[in-house]
Amino acid sequence: MRVTIFGTGYVGLVTGTCLAEVGHDVVCVDIDAAKVDGLARGVVPIYEPGLAPMVKANHAAGRLHFTTDAARAVAHGDVVFIAVGTPPDDDGSADLQYVLAVARTIGQHLARPVVVVDKSTVPVGTADKVRTTIATTLAERGADIAFDVVSNPEFLKEGAAVEDCMRPDRIVIGADNPAAVEKLRRLYAPFNRNHDRIVAMDVRSAELTKYAANAMLATKISFMNEIANIAEKVGADIEMVRHGIGSDPRIGWHFIYPGAGYGGSCFPKDVQALAKTAQQHDYEARLLNAVEAVNDAQKGHLFELVQRHYDAGEDEGVRGRTFAVWGLAFKPDTDDMREASSRRLLQQLWDAGARVRAYDPEARHEAARVFGERPDLVLCDSAGAALEGADALIVVTEWKQFRSPDFAALHAALGDAVVFDGRNLYDPAEVEAAGLAYYGIGRGRSILPEGSAGG
Ligand code: UDX
Repeated sequence: MRVTIFGTGYVGLVTGTCLAEVGHDVVCVDIDAAKVDGLARGVVPIYEPGLAPMVKANHAAGRLHFTTDAARAVAHGDVVFIAVGTPPDDDGSADLQYVLAVARTIGQHLARPVVVVDKSTVPVGTADKVRTTIATTLAERGADIAFDVVSNPEFLKEGAAVEDCMRPDRIVIGADNPAAVEKLRRLYAPFNRNHDRIVAMDVRSAELTKYAANAMLATKISFMNEIANIAEKVGADIEMVRHGIGSDPRIGWHFIYPGAGYGGSCFPKDVQALAKTAQQHDYEARLLNAVEAVNDAQKGHLFELVQRHYDAGEDEGVRGRTFAVWGLAFKPDTDDMREASSRRLLQQLWDAGARVRAYDPEARHEAARVFGERPDLVLCDSAGAALEGADALIVVTEWKQFRSPDFAALHAALGDAVVFDGRNLYDPAEVEAAGLAYYGIGRGRSILPEGSAGG
């Protein structure tokens, strides 16, 4: 089939590339000429495992094209995807200006019936706005062309986006017209072998499904972070508790990892946007607001541990110390630093007069862009280089390469011999056996003074 994708960001580029990979003829269109130029030369602006070679191969095979020419792009597709950004407005609601601008562009150039697909995560009711915008623009031209608007949310995880797209666990299609569902069924047939993954529903339910999925996952994380904070207070170890509850299939092992808080482009934005939608419909989303508040507090928790350690000491506290920070991306296998917990931590360290030597396997360039040149930051080329001259180590992102360091070497390198483990990667006893002080998330066993846990 002939497919057009508006937006070559994360979702648009991955979706377009995977659709080309299974044989569709895909045109990706973006207003950013430099990006389009780069993509046509094989320069992929984001790091995502497996994506760059797939873009190059499909481009070379003539199935994947990049253009800024919206008229040509609209003329190409039987199915036209809208996969542009929906950044949060000042009040947390999703900003639809880019989505609706694409809808206008489609209306201006449409010459034959198409199915328009909302792929961006958009508030319930957006498909109606897209439909109205296209219809109004067509009417202004005096054109009368049939079109459908379908909601088909993405469920891609960063770092596994290509895999998720090639092997989806479900394909949600929200449509009011059975013919539109049929068309998308054909489009997705190569991804839908062996058993049927297509879940067809009405447009508004599909729009809400996307938010419900992300809000549920964010809720699990905030729940565990809250229990971790309680564990820390009462002298329990959240890792024991996690093992104790995860085996219950009703709870499950996924997304119950406590840590430095969730970041990324989806959870923070989507939880807030859903709460905002509820409010606009006169419903106060108490749980969602709490999920967000717990996460916001959690992003400051690592620094609290740092402060607690140094304030308890005899020296002047955090001021003047150098911290090695391992991991800057919001999670492993990505260079994305949107809403990353590292951003809050580094700012808190700097505000307290500390210096940072940071290492991330992929996010170095992004970090340079985000933080700019500053005297209290050195971006290092390796985990070992970050330790040089450092007093303490803080682990923020759980990259695999940070999982089993040589603790004796850490002890030798770190002036204050202390490790703050923001993702509970290490066994506290093993770290302590190497002569290092250990702080994890929700690991009360290593924080309360001996004997005080019993009370
Ligand atoms: C998420 C959803 O998983 C995906 O389905 C949706 O389409 C987009 O949003 P993503 O943002 O790429 O994907 O990352 P994800 O792996 O879900 O992690 C989100 C954040 O939660 C990360 O900061 C991660 O470190 C944190 N997290 C995750 C935890 O703190 N604990 C956990 O148990 C799981």
